Amino acid sequence: MISFINVDLELNKKPVFTNLNLTVQHGELLYIVGRSGSGKSTLLKSMYMDIRPKKGEIHIAGYNSRTIKNREIPLLRRKLGIVFQDFRLLEDRSVYDNLAFVLKVTGTKEKLIKNSVMQALESVGLQDAAREMPFRLSGGEQQRVAIARALVREPLVILADEPTGNLDPDTSLEILEYLKKINQKGIIVVVGTHDYELVRHSPSRTLLIEGLNIHETSIEPSLTGFRPTGKTA
Ligand SMILES: Nc1ncnc2c1ncn2[C@@H]1O[C@H](COP(=O)(O)OP(=O)(O)OP(=O)(O)O)[C@@H](O)[C@H]1O
Ligand SMILES: [Mg+2]
Repeated sequence: MISFINVDLELNKKPVFTNLNLTVQHGELLYIVGRSGSGKSTLLKSMYMDIRPKKGEIHIAGYNSRTIKNREIPLLRRKLGIVFQDFRLLEDRSVYDNLAFVLKVTGTKEKLIKNSVMQALESVGLQDAAREMPFRLSGGEQQRVAIARALVREPLVILADEPTGNLDPDTSLEILEYLKKINQKGIIVVVGTHDYELVRHSPSRTLLIEGLNIHETSIEPSLTGFRPTGKTA
């Protein structure tokens, strides 16, 4: 479970959120939408404690932003899988080694590494690409590798910041299908996106950032594109 209790977040002394209260339950797939600069990335960063609240507290994966020590932040992040728009793969290592690296740094035994890596690749349909170099793969495939890498430590939560931002519409939907499959295994998935069509394709709980706060919303089609409407509270 993730919870925000009376949280103020600011960047360079500029408030981005004030008095944010939010709960994400086990097994939820949550979208965070809002226009560019509204604070989607900031909100996700606060979940992996790259940004700490000015006020209030954030609870995630058994840690509390108010009491977590700096040296514990890597331990928190081991329980989270983080996915970015630009994939962030190690270009000089194979797909296999990109995933294995994550486990090696925490001292996992070689045999366990192999099983975990192959299982994670299988969950995104890339078991046959283990020996490929990332640059030989398409953007969509590279993002699937990044998702597998996020999964390899069996996280409680996947945080994805514009995971489809660099991909065409069909590939975006494919990526979303993988994220949904992961979510169905019981992992919380939080997706920050400005792609309303993606949300409309696979509706789930959606939070719209407006000003310094967040509202539950629903995404409905409109003549000029897909816009968030139906703000409730
Ligand atoms: N490192 C930073 N220092 C100061 N201000 C920042 C920093 N990063 C972002 N901001 C500001 O914080 C606000 C929220 O930015 P954020 O990147 O979270 O928005 P976003 O919704 O993710 O936007 P986008 O859709 O463009 O990714 C913006 O006003 C932005 O200019
Ligand atoms: Mg962003």
